[in-house]
Amino acid sequence: MLKSCGKKLLLSFVGSMLTCFLVLMADQQKGQVLSLAGAGAGLLLQPFEGSRGAGGGGGGAGLFSQLRSGASAAQSLPEVKSFSDYFTKLTRGKRDVSPGGDGALPGGKAAPSRPQLEEISPQDVFIAVKTTKKFHKSRMELLLDTWISRNQDMTFIFTDGEDEELKKRAGNVINTNCSAAHSRQALSCKMAVEYDKFIESGRKWFCHMDDDNYVNVRMLVKLLSSYLHTQDIYIGKPSLDRPIQATERISENKLHPVHFWFATGGAGFCISRGLALKMSPWASGGHFMSTAEKIRLPDDCTIGYIIESVLGVKLIRSNLFHSHLENLHQVPKTEIHNQVTLSYGMFENKRNSIHMKGAFSVEEDPSRFRSIHCLLYPDTPWCPLNTVY
Ligand SMILES: *[C@@H]1O[C@H](CO)[C@@H](O)[C@H](O)[C@H]1NC(C)=O
Repeated sequence: MLKSCGKKLLLSFVGSMLTCFLVLMADQQKGQVLSLAGAGAGLLLQPFEGSRGAGGGGGGAGLFSQLRSGASAAQSLPEVKSFSDYFTKLTRGKRDVSPGGDGALPGGKAAPSRPQLEEISPQDVFIAVKTTKKFHKSRMELLLDTWISRNQDMTFIFTDGEDEELKKRAGNVINTNCSAAHSRQALSCKMAVEYDKFIESGRKWFCHMDDDNYVNVRMLVKLLSSYLHTQDIYIGKPSLDRPIQATERISENKLHPVHFWFATGGAGFCISRGLALKMSPWASGGHFMSTAEKIRLPDDCTIGYIIESVLGVKLIRSNLFHSHLENLHQVPKTEIHNQVTLSYGMFENKRNSIHMKGAFSVEEDPSRFRSIHCLLYPDTPWCPLNTVY
């Protein structure tokens, strides 16, 4: 009796293990987890000197294209040594694809939202918008006409050239005196100034945006309210499907491999004040620039390095942030109003923007930002009345 029971137990155990394994294999094929092969052939990103994609925006674009083209990117990592190692990686993969801390589902669908933990007002949030003089007209005017017009007090524009016109239109314009080049150094220079100005401001949340982002401030504030600003919070969306592999320079000729997740600057990301203060030894004053030099990666990667690698705080992934590096057509029409950030740009030589009917035609409003703005704030004077969405 006991013996047969044991046998049955063993059989059912073997059966469930097999099922488990098959499920894992299926998942792996869908590319949703870090597979054994994937980890073995790991993506090692060589530090690079080149500039990134177009614009003051375009965070990580060059990085992305470099990964896509595979130029000097693929290099073998040590093989995964044991089964437990394998399962650790799978678990990590699982964690990473599970609906993010904000309860967002893939494709930007909002799950039942997290409860409010702290009441915050827009004035508690410091939104840094990174731009460059070349884009004051073409990109910044669109933002000033749309989302910034409703949120002047919380928005700080970081640029690299004097512009009296821009100063007249926008409340807070900061000339970083950084180079207007799109080099790694120039971008890190701007991020360093953003960080210092945020600390100086005394606000509860730091959010970095590019000049091709539409920020839905209502949803941003709602998302941040579901965390405490005194806790260690780093939230955004990665552009890669696995941690970035890099090397940190320890001394003149000593390199040390590191891997960490980072939120792509092009989708926007936020950091709580509690965490930002802990970053100070690596981010304040001139330290951000020297940290970026040590790791030799762009500004958004350097932020991820300081938070994940140095401080051991994990990125909270949110699918409510969107960059031009993803297919923006995939944001469901019925969920546009729930997103935190949206973007536009070119992707593989095609125009990439939110797909919506909206108040304006694609010719009048190629970024769709004016249509999105009218959807969110129909009482805006220049929005046509009675638009059917
Ligand atoms: C940039 O230079 C101007 C003029 O020297 C100075 O007033 C300003 O404070 C500088 N900006 C920053 C962020 O250091």
